[in-house]
Amino acid sequence: MDKIRIRGGQPLQGKIAVSGAKNAALPLLAASLLTDEALVLRNLPHLADIATMTHLLAQHGTDLSMAGTHPSGGHMGQVLELRTGDITSTEAPYDIVRKMRASVLVLGPLLARCHQARVSLPGGCAIGTRPVDMHIRGLEALGAEIELDDGYVVARAPGGLRGGVVVFPRVSVGATENLLMAATLAKGEVILENAAREPEVGDLANCLNAMGARIEGIGGDTLHIQGVDRLRGADYAVLPDRIEAATYAIAAAITGGKVELVGARPATMEAVTAALAQANVSIRPSDCGVMVETGGGDSDGIASIDVSTAPYPGFPTDLQAQIMALMTVADGAAMITETIFENRFQHVPELMRMGADITVKGATAMVRGRGGPGGAGLHGAPVMATDLRASVSLVLAGLAAEGETTVNRVYHLDRGYERLEEKLSACGADIMRLTV
Ligand code: UD1
Repeated sequence: MDKIRIRGGQPLQGKIAVSGAKNAALPLLAASLLTDEALVLRNLPHLADIATMTHLLAQHGTDLSMAGTHPSGGHMGQVLELRTGDITSTEAPYDIVRKMRASVLVLGPLLARCHQARVSLPGGCAIGTRPVDMHIRGLEALGAEIELDDGYVVARAPGGLRGGVVVFPRVSVGATENLLMAATLAKGEVILENAAREPEVGDLANCLNAMGARIEGIGGDTLHIQGVDRLRGADYAVLPDRIEAATYAIAAAITGGKVELVGARPATMEAVTAALAQANVSIRPSDCGVMVETGGGDSDGIASIDVSTAPYPGFPTDLQAQIMALMTVADGAAMITETIFENRFQHVPELMRMGADITVKGATAMVRGRGGPGGAGLHGAPVMATDLRASVSLVLAGLAAEGETTVNRVYHLDRGYERLEEKLSACGADIMRLTV
């Protein structure tokens, strides 16, 4: 199994190109099941999760072909053409779904187009129980009959889905996306209330509209969808990954460096920009993305801040581990509260092995920072984590730590960070993949 070896202490300097957003790409790929015409998706990241989704689609009957790469060349932005003339199987098997929770996103499209689906209950990152009850209740509100059979969600909608009102009891990105896709082909109007407002949901809605759907209210918490008889093909570019961009912003900050994130969209990063500004890290728009730099406040170091995760436009749970890594080298104490997932502090014991001072009480972690950039208090260690964002937080800590850090279980990183070690080493980091 591959490992990543980091020798910390180098301030990052240079440019990092931001890839297409994994969490936008996955639902967009699933949306290809809604039409028998070709959906061309541009700016797709090269990631293990994307490969898992295309594998799943292929077994539903989707023909996939590579249609070139991003004009900026290199490895960036693959272009895929997806055409699902006939859906040859409406079953999403356990063997694929267990690898990635987002596989459940085929449920809505299959049910909308074929009026039936059998989808394994999902696996994915080990960050809490993560049920799919809201996906199921929502589809039932559109007339689906659903039962659980032997670990599978078995759904039928004889005669097709119909209009209805779905009020989500809490904000769910995946449930909003599944319902949004299902609703496009329903008979009548579907209203989704308390919908997730994440930019990735907006990206999906925009693509569905380009395919002929009639969705209004994009970006808000109430979505109105007028069902149509059929959707057509489209050509759509995935939005840049705000979580990847912010992770590299934190990498620049934790090393006291200066990095331009090429392609980053500042408008999707406002909560992070505000939090980092308080921490004495500036993120300002540049000609081709954003520029990240530490300093400018009362001191040159990182100031401690309190952060609580929340649905968009709040501070993303997918950056909680990374901001915690930054706080381990801040000047003072920080309180980090996780409100979206239980059991999302798996990075804490690993960060502590590197010298971090963290106490967890319930959903809050108190981080007593080790002061200043360069992370005088952190030292390298062999570490591992059991989810994607926890793993990358260990890479960040390794960049700041003195000595050598080895991050094991790199396959978590490969699920969500394209060419991580290449992007970081191009900015001066001493980081290498070791193939064991
Ligand atoms: C998506 C993201 C993930 C991110 C998360 C929250 C993708 C592929 N993944 O995950 O990176 O961390 O949003 O921003 O886009 N819940 C239920 N019942 C349900 C559905 C969810 O109780 O039916 C709970 C979850 O356990 C969690 C909360 O709702 O506590 C939010 O989860 P959700 O927004 O659905 O996360 P995902 O869509 O799985």
